[in-house]
Amino acid sequence: MQDPIHPRRLRGIMPLRQMVRRVTLRRGDFILPVFACEGTGVKREVASMPGVFQMSVDVAADWLAERAGEGFGAYIAFGVIAKEKKNPRGDEALNPDNVVCRLLEEVGRRKIGMTSMTDLCFCEYTSHGHCGILSGDATTVANDVTVDRLVKQAVNHAQAGAAVIAPSGMMDGTVGALRGGLDAAGFGNVAILSYAVKYASAFYGPFRDAADSAPEFGDRRAYQMDPARGVEEAMLEVDLDIQQGADMVMVKPAGPYLDILRAVRQRVQVPVVAYQVSGEYSMLEAAARAGWLDGDRAVLESLLAIKRAGADLIISYFSQRLAKLLER
Ligand code: PBG
Repeated sequence: MQDPIHPRRLRGIMPLRQMVRRVTLRRGDFILPVFACEGTGVKREVASMPGVFQMSVDVAADWLAERAGEGFGAYIAFGVIAKEKKNPRGDEALNPDNVVCRLLEEVGRRKIGMTSMTDLCFCEYTSHGHCGILSGDATTVANDVTVDRLVKQAVNHAQAGAAVIAPSGMMDGTVGALRGGLDAAGFGNVAILSYAVKYASAFYGPFRDAADSAPEFGDRRAYQMDPARGVEEAMLEVDLDIQQGADMVMVKPAGPYLDILRAVRQRVQVPVVAYQVSGEYSMLEAAARAGWLDGDRAVLESLLAIKRAGADLIISYFSQRLAKLLER
């Protein structure tokens, strides 16, 4: 061999191979999604997401206490709302005693050492399944009325104990309105994690099963982003949300959008969160369960890639595997 550069040299020598690693995953990097439903003692596996459950508030609190014991530090709550409580205006979202608020209170009461975050959206609460109030012609989501109601929902979450509010509905002007509303209600310390860059993605399919939030007609393309647009639209979205007061910004989905994640990381000074969404989970989990690939290795590789691309924190459903695979 004449060439003096041998990249293989550092790969084969075990301590060096590890020493030159730059990307590490810790349990503290993760935010765990929780689907809270009505009832007591309920734990229902989501058909399209094996290993992920809809849980009543009592069971979800137990589950979170176990995860806290394993060294995980944060969760994001989603509500699974009974059909009879849904209506076109999503009124249950504004009920201060709904499943999400009750879970937040329970985590506080039991002093479970987990940072409480909430997904802020109407799709789980509306009978039509869209992310807000429909306009007069009932074909599109009306932006500003929806934002007004999101502010009320956020104040309820803050009152119940949320430390971080994560608006996911892609309504324009949401972050500024939330910041104003939270401050006015005395919640200046509650942070906003904006789903700034959220694509209209087929990879949310299993989640809509988990949260029972599939739109009854049409789709979300009128408010979620077009995957065929360039990186510039993502830059615009993060700029707007940071100007309006976002404390952290999110890119979603994660794996198929690593280019966007990298560009956002280079653009902003706030922490960047990536959401490894339900479809990313289900694909890997299904292939692993079928014996088609090594699930543990593939999951770690998918998450390393997301971190390497620029994520500071990752929302992921893989807590079970991660508790086994990662050091604290
Ligand atoms: C609510 C919301 C969705 C997800 C997170 N918040 C669904 C959607 O936008 O349709 C998807 C998360 C996942 O797929 O894991 N708007």
